[in-house]
Amino acid sequence: MSNNHNDIRVWCDGCYDMVHFGHANSLRQAKALGDYLIVGIHTDEEITRHKGPPVFTEQERYKMVRGIKWVDEVVEGAPYITSLETLDEYNCDFCVHGDDITMTADGVDTYHLVKAAGRYKEVKRTAGVSTTDVVGRMLLMTRQHFRRGPWEYEVEREGSSALGQDSAARSPWTGCSQFLPTTQKIIQFSEGKEPKPGDRVVYVAGAFDVFHVGHLDFLEKARKQGDFLIVGLHTDPVVNRYKGSNYPIMNLHERVLSVLACKYVSEVVIGAPYPVTEDLMSHFHVDVVCHGQTPIMPDTDGSDPYSIPKRLKKFKIIDSFNSMTTEKIVDRIIRHRLEF
Ligand code: CTP
Ligand code: C5P
Repeated sequence: MSNNHNDIRVWCDGCYDMVHFGHANSLRQAKALGDYLIVGIHTDEEITRHKGPPVFTEQERYKMVRGIKWVDEVVEGAPYITSLETLDEYNCDFCVHGDDITMTADGVDTYHLVKAAGRYKEVKRTAGVSTTDVVGRMLLMTRQHFRRGPWEYEVEREGSSALGQDSAARSPWTGCSQFLPTTQKIIQFSEGKEPKPGDRVVYVAGAFDVFHVGHLDFLEKARKQGDFLIVGLHTDPVVNRYKGSNYPIMNLHERVLSVLACKYVSEVVIGAPYPVTEDLMSHFHVDVVCHGQTPIMPDTDGSDPYSIPKRLKKFKIIDSFNSMTTEKIVDRIIRHRLEF
């Protein structure tokens, strides 16, 4: 509960499966309509009944939404149809949803009650991204995987769209993205803060492809190493060089927004160099560079990308205590592909 009685309390609800920057953008807009944002999330059982099983478990989905910086509180197991009783129970003035209609299995608008009571507001849905789209990108990999054999998860490159890509982000592997990145969106997502004098600056780098609970737990631990956390994101061709097949699934711009939406992140370097250089460390006044328990892939010349921070004794391996990886998500979707 907030302390100020005049605060406007906003309610959002949904599945929040494979949380992406479209979800984050709707929560950002919802928060801007009030002072305190509560997000109700449906159970696995409820989602299965109305639209089929989710990819992520309810515990994973609750954690992901709690990690989004505009969210003040999460309500676990919120009902599929938003009722006035729910809004009243949490003292919310109104409910906010994207401008798409959500139906129950019986074809009922899940917001009909709050709409009739005038306690419903709409925000603009983010075009070009959805859970179905991200699952589709992964299923496209599996189709090709079965057809082509040796080129595991190779994607149909001729069919790729060039939308949502500039020369720096351009990669045939993420060509399915329909999202159009703008500087406006980056400004809306970013903190716009600089480290305060005396702040300990932490730097981490990686792909952060299809931002997941493993990344979230890692960033939480990394943030605890200091006061200001900078995340370096590698370009699509760099990620593809060391991850192979048709990774990354999300392009650089999409990955930037997902990482910026995370509450532990202070700043993002868009297209960070693969090796952590001395220039980068002095430019950002980096005190410590961290990496998780996952293997460190060598640079093109076989060298260790962390050799400089290691030499400067500013390198630390940390444990996210979470074994989730982007590959595991793809595996989950392949295994359950008939259900989606
Ligand atoms: N949302 C959005 N933009 C998107 C996707 C979702 O603004 N590209 C919003 C929805 O309008 C809703 C909230 O995110 O207000 C939570 O939606 P949820 O029930 O999780 O999802 P879906 O609408 O089913 O999202 P998706 O299509 O990605 O599964
Ligand atoms: O694989 P990727 O480059 O996205 O990983 C970014 C960082 O997150 C790396 O330091 C990696 O070790 C860490 N990570 C983690 N636990 C996970 C997944 C990633 O600590 N489950």
